[in-house]
Amino acid sequence: MSYSRIVVKPIAGALGAEIEGVDLAKPIDDATFAEIRRAHLDYLVIFFRGQKITDEELAAFGRRFGELAPLPPHRQFPGKFPELLVIDKKPEDKLNFGWEWHSDTTHLPVPTLGSALYAKIIPPVGGDTMFANQYMAYDTLSDGMKKLLDGLVAVHSNGRILRTLEEKVTPAPGSEPASAAWANGRAEHPVVRTHPDTGRKALFVNVMHTEGLKGMTIEESQPLLQYLYAHASRPEFTCRFRWTEGAVAFWDNRSVQHLAMNDYPGHRRLMHRVQVKGTKPV
Ligand code: SIN
Repeated sequence: MSYSRIVVKPIAGALGAEIEGVDLAKPIDDATFAEIRRAHLDYLVIFFRGQKITDEELAAFGRRFGELAPLPPHRQFPGKFPELLVIDKKPEDKLNFGWEWHSDTTHLPVPTLGSALYAKIIPPVGGDTMFANQYMAYDTLSDGMKKLLDGLVAVHSNGRILRTLEEKVTPAPGSEPASAAWANGRAEHPVVRTHPDTGRKALFVNVMHTEGLKGMTIEESQPLLQYLYAHASRPEFTCRFRWTEGAVAFWDNRSVQHLAMNDYPGHRRLMHRVQVKGTKPV
């Protein structure tokens, strides 16, 4: 089906499209939003360049997709609203936020539907975000592997990430330390989930949060999980977005993994994010 109210320009064969003809600072009429939503389901991650929006306008855009998901206090920007995540890598910071392949908040029983990220300050070069299509990751597995994965459940947690963040990243002024604010999240999800809107199956394990397979030890789980992580991020399943200031990305956490490149030492990168509440993976 074609688009009449927006211009959709795919950026790679696997996923990702830039959308033109939309000003996110202005109210979006229902017919235009229906096309944006369709593009999001078709391309899994959509991008809008050259936007000049406030945090409230970013939140209003996110809310078109559903209720926003609040964040733990240590990730909030003090004085702003609880759904706003400030991702601020300073020139002296060694580690960035989102440095490994993942989909957001899979350590929670109900992970988010999607995340909208707005670029406020970007490094002169580097700091791209990569995305990987998890429908393709599932579809390209052998029938034997699909049968093996069918019915398997994975355990997800944020323990390792919290420890790493606390060791390496300075908390925002006025915010609580990660461990005080965010008790270790743990959740179980099917290794393959069915997307609630498209009915398609997607691989749903990620190196950042998945700890092991239910009913197996971590050591027993790792060989299969490591295979799936490598498969899930095969180059032909990915796209890579080169940010420009004012660009907004909105990705689908149910069918996409992403990774923020940590390749701009000595420079600042400042992004604001809101995330939309999802449904329990099945
Ligand atoms: C994230 O949400 O994981 C961060 C993505 C980015 O900063 O590019």
